[in-house]
Amino acid sequence: SKGTARSSAGLGFQAIAGNRTDVVDVPVGYRAQPFLPWGTPLVPGAGEFKTDASNSALDQARQVGSHHDGMHFFPIDVKEGGASSKEGLLVMNHEYVDPQILHASFSPNAPRPQQEVLKEMMAHGVSVAHIIRKPDGEWQLVEGSPYNRRITASTPMQMSGPVAGHDKLVTRFSPDGTKTRGTINNCSHGHTPWGTYLTCEENWAGCFMNDDDTHPREHERYGVNRENSRYYWETATPGLDETLRFNASSTGSTAADDYRNEPNHFGWIVEIDPFNAKSTPVKRSMLGRFAHEGIVFAPAVEGEPLVAYSGDDSRFEYIYKFVSAKPYYKATASGELLNEGTLYVAQFNDDGTGRWLPLDIENSEFQAKASEAGVGFHSQADVLLNTRLAADVMGATKMDRPEWGAVHPTTKEVYFSLTNNTRRTEVQTNAVNPRAENAYGHIVRWSEDNQQSAESFHWDIFLMGGEAGTRTPNAEGKDLTLTSNNQFACPDGLWFDHRGTLWIQTDMSGELLSEGSFGNNGMYAANPESGELKRFLVGPVDCEITGVVTTPDGKTMFVNVQHPGDRLAPGKFSSSWPAGNGARPRSATVIITREDGGVVGA
Ligand code: FEO
Ligand code: CA
Ligand code: CA
Ligand code: CA
Repeated sequence: SKGTARSSAGLGFQAIAGNRTDVVDVPVGYRAQPFLPWGTPLVPGAGEFKTDASNSALDQARQVGSHHDGMHFFPIDVKEGGASSKEGLLVMNHEYVDPQILHASFSPNAPRPQQEVLKEMMAHGVSVAHIIRKPDGEWQLVEGSPYNRRITASTPMQMSGPVAGHDKLVTRFSPDGTKTRGTINNCSHGHTPWGTYLTCEENWAGCFMNDDDTHPREHERYGVNRENSRYYWETATPGLDETLRFNASSTGSTAADDYRNEPNHFGWIVEIDPFNAKSTPVKRSMLGRFAHEGIVFAPAVEGEPLVAYSGDDSRFEYIYKFVSAKPYYKATASGELLNEGTLYVAQFNDDGTGRWLPLDIENSEFQAKASEAGVGFHSQADVLLNTRLAADVMGATKMDRPEWGAVHPTTKEVYFSLTNNTRRTEVQTNAVNPRAENAYGHIVRWSEDNQQSAESFHWDIFLMGGEAGTRTPNAEGKDLTLTSNNQFACPDGLWFDHRGTLWIQTDMSGELLSEGSFGNNGMYAANPESGELKRFLVGPVDCEITGVVTTPDGKTMFVNVQHPGDRLAPGKFSSSWPAGNGARPRSATVIITREDGGVVGA
């Protein structure tokens, strides 16, 4: 059992049934209102959204992006120690695009028209939206607010930490390897104790190609394409410096002549100050390079190191932990704390113990393992650039696609979604990834031994996904068996609210989503203490539900609906949410409130 008692209140709502309707369904007594859909004008000069998707790339650069994902609400007064629940900055990621939805008419043939490619790049990134709750309870965008901002695949950024200025970052755009440009595939997120937002680069590798005969390890281990990139951005015609860079082949005589090192500028976590729209986002290389799903901090403790966790969402990849070198002090804390420290990778032993293995070139165990494996690292920058390889060398535990993590606000236990891994074979199963062909996923949790920065922990499986009847044997003797009111599959988004309720969001896809017994993707609320689990929300057709946060008073909840209708039939989408009546589907935030004004979920 786990030292500190978990204290969370019960779940006072009536669970809803799974379904396949094209609406956002919430419990009796709750309201769900779409907000800030893709294409909403955000910064000055943005054109109105055109329902036939004929807005230009320039419009898109000033409108809310597509494929809403991780999200945080910053109370407007948070820097002064306040906790407004009536006004704040809603900051959200835009993970990717469905070109068939993004463009009025889309032809997949290369070469791609330059304006289409630019529109796709502008639809990626982050939106900062200044929002306010009117006296009648409705939320609205503060139009013309100096906080409103779009960050895209073209926004100038700075590289920081050990990798800044490394030879492998030299490109035609960044001759000294310190300047960088844009962020893409922004999946989940994080927020720091000093009031900044972190956006995480997940499936960036697919946006690059390299047709050289041999790929360097910093391309190969991440899956940079050989022939063409996912969207053929490198074929944009006429080509621009910022589109040609997605061809990372060696076309020039040196790295400063071409874009062979451009993929090395991606796979990082980017820090953004949402309260200063003129600020330059900073990529924090000390947090490692992989398909970052998100990052979650343990509650910061005065005078102790800062601790954060991040998953690498790919089959058989790892879970990481960062421990800052310097202690956290509220009065002086800043992004500098993220530039120095130790990056660890998790080893889950079958007996319920675990170890954090340091990816540190000065550590003797790391040196010995690298030498045993015959893998050379020249510097800590080289280790971080090749984070996955360094984790391989240390013998970390290969997981079933680590997605979001969440840290319990009082017990500080860490929960992580392992969304699925249908490629795990029987001989590859182990105690923490116990299922072969794991289609339904599960949630693991651990407690650090003694202190949050410890190098060892104890873990158990919190919850197994599956159909009604699926049982999670629980170490605390509260075996949980799923029912029709809470069966779920493919856990992805995870978030603890202030009451200690764990919100679980699902991302099924393919036949499991269209034909399985679960209905559409949705959101569940769990009380880790009692083992209570209830379905709270069901999304529209073919969306995933991802991104959740509340105002500090817990009375307004923001949830993101991503890619409704993305099962594309020619000329017809599988959803028309939120407008309905056959309209083009749009990713959007949903605002959830209680009709009696109470705390959501209570
Ligand atoms: Fe973009 Fe792993 O979800
Ligand atoms: Ca997604
Ligand atoms: Ca996700
Ligand atoms: Ca997912």
